[in-house]
Parts: sequence; C-alpha cells; structure tokens
Amino acid sequence: MKALVVYDSAYGNTEKVARVIAGVIGSDVKALRPAEVNPADLNSLDLLVVGAPTQGGKPTMAMQDFLSKLSESVIKGKNVAAFDTRMTTRLVKIFGYAAGKIADSLKEKGGNLVLPAEAFYVTGSKGPLKDGELERAASWAKDLVRGK
Ligand SMILES: Cc1cc2nc3c(=O)[nH]c(=O)nc-3n(C[C@H](O)[C@H](O)[C@H](O)COP(=O)(O)O)c2cc1C
Repeated sequence: MKALVVYDSAYGNTEKVARVIAGVIGSDVKALRPAEVNPADLNSLDLLVVGAPTQGGKPTMAMQDFLSKLSESVIKGKNVAAFDTRMTTRLVKIFGYAAGKIADSLKEKGGNLVLPAEAFYVTGSKGPLKDGELERAASWAKDLVRGK
C-alpha cells in the first residue's frame, strides 16, 4: 500500500503517534511534517493520513495551512484518515478538536474517510501521552489498512 502520514507536533506527542501509525501501515511509509512534503509525495497514494495536536480547538497553524493548500485534484477519490492529540479536561470540549476539522477538510476535497477521525490523549498540555495510546494508535492503523 502506498501511504503517507502528514503530521504536526509542538512537543513530540503527535509525532510519536504518527510514527507508530506509519510503521504499522508499512515499513516504507513515511511520516512527514507539512514543510517536508513534496507535491510528488502525494501522487498515486492509496492512503493519506493527517494528524495534528489540538490547539485552541483546531489543528496547528502549520497543519491548517497544509490542508488549505491541498488541491482537490490530489484528494478527490483518495482514501484518507484523520487523527489528533488532545487533553481530556472538560473545559477544552467547548472549543472542539482538531481531528474532526481535519476530516471535514479532507472530505470537502473529495477524500473518502476510511474510519471516523480518532483522538489520542495526552495527560497535560505538553504530554506525555496517556498509557496505552501508542498501542491504540497501532490498532487504529491496522484497522486503516484493513479498511474498516
Ligand atoms: C496553545 C495550545 C492550545 C491548546 N488547546 C487545546 C485545546 O483546545 N484542546 C485540547 O484538547 N488540547 C489543547 N492543547 C493541548 C494539546 O492538544 C497538546 O499540547 C498536544 O496534544 C500535544 O501534542 P504535541 O506534543 O504533538 O504538540 C493545547 C496546547 C497548546 C500548546
């Protein structure tokens, strides 16, 4: 499967999740930050996975910028998936989360969302990830490959 994981990360937690997801999809699958993505990396992909930390209820600016520049011709008909990292405190619920917004943006451009957007939890604003989240990321990635 030709796949790519594009992620952003301020403190390294989303990066860990992205790398686990890429590794489970395939040993040749890269996890890249938006600035590292070449247009050619997006050609003929079977699956594009996009993940970002939730900041102020949204993906980071770098990821919002990446999503806004992704052209419809690249995404249309492509299998896509979205995830974020976020906190569990009740207060942040008011602002919403990054993953749903990433998924909406990919769907708007004609992407076929393989699984519902997924969240992975950190214990504080800089992390670390909650216990078991990398295992859950691996399991989510297996489901992505199976397409269910
Ligand atoms: C400026 C800022 C705003 C944040 N806003 C939210 C938020 O609205 N909701 C939430 O669940 N977490 C929020 N967080 C916590 C982040 O989700 C957390 O830093 C992130 O999951 C860590 O991932 P990273 O290490 O990849 O950056 C915020 C963190 C920062 C630094």
